[in-house]
Amino acid sequence: MKGVILAGGHGTRLFPLTKATNKHLLPVGREPMLYHPIRQLVSAAIQEILVVTSSDHMGDVVRCLGSGAEFDCTLTYRVQETAGGIAHALKLARNFAGSDPICVLLGDNIFEYSIAPYVENFRSQSHGARVLLKEVGDPERYGVAALDEKQVIEIEEKPADPKSQFAVVGMYLYDAQIFEILDQVQPSDRGELEITSVNNAYIEAGALQYDICRGRWTDAGTFDSLTEANRILGSNHNRILPHA
Ligand code: G1P
Repeated sequence: MKGVILAGGHGTRLFPLTKATNKHLLPVGREPMLYHPIRQLVSAAIQEILVVTSSDHMGDVVRCLGSGAEFDCTLTYRVQETAGGIAHALKLARNFAGSDPICVLLGDNIFEYSIAPYVENFRSQSHGARVLLKEVGDPERYGVAALDEKQVIEIEEKPADPKSQFAVVGMYLYDAQIFEILDQVQPSDRGELEITSVNNAYIEAGALQYDICRGRWTDAGTFDSLTEANRILGSNHNRILPHA
């Protein structure tokens, strides 16, 4: 399995912190934010990793992460010329992924515990996709999963009237089919290629499974969530907790 970290976007909700730098280079605890998704993938034995970011900040991102040797992985970089959504950025991973399954992390998602068990569950899944859900108090900020007794029946992106409290967090596991699905995805009302549309395509094919995220989780795209990210990693000195 290969890893893909998406670290593009303008970080407008964190302005002026992101006036001169990329959101994913801001400090969380004692390290730049991007160290966290790299350490998470390595904790799940994924050591070939692609980092996607905008041309504005690619130089700084490479200066920050280097070859990956420091993290026990090898890093490849790709430039996202325009911010067209998560699914748009993911298209850039096609040649890197080849026919391998991928683990996609949004670069601003912080997990208290290692993602390794969810990756293991996906490794024993023959095909399809796997997402991670977390019960939150403000689901309208996220992709929200509607569930029946056994499975996710639909995901809605930032619904005004959420059907559950379960946010779809920024860790997605996909088989090689993803790139055919990405070719079919149409832009949403906000003009972006949404990862939620990709996940709904897997649901329609009866091929999406899920886990519930253990421990604390947050994104770090707003001032409040960046503070929470600092709380989570700060309290553990940036160490990712292993599952007992
Ligand atoms: C994105 C996804 C959303 C997901 C969230 C997790 O939202 O579109 O489905 O729940 O990441 O962090 P964004 O943070 O880009 O608004």
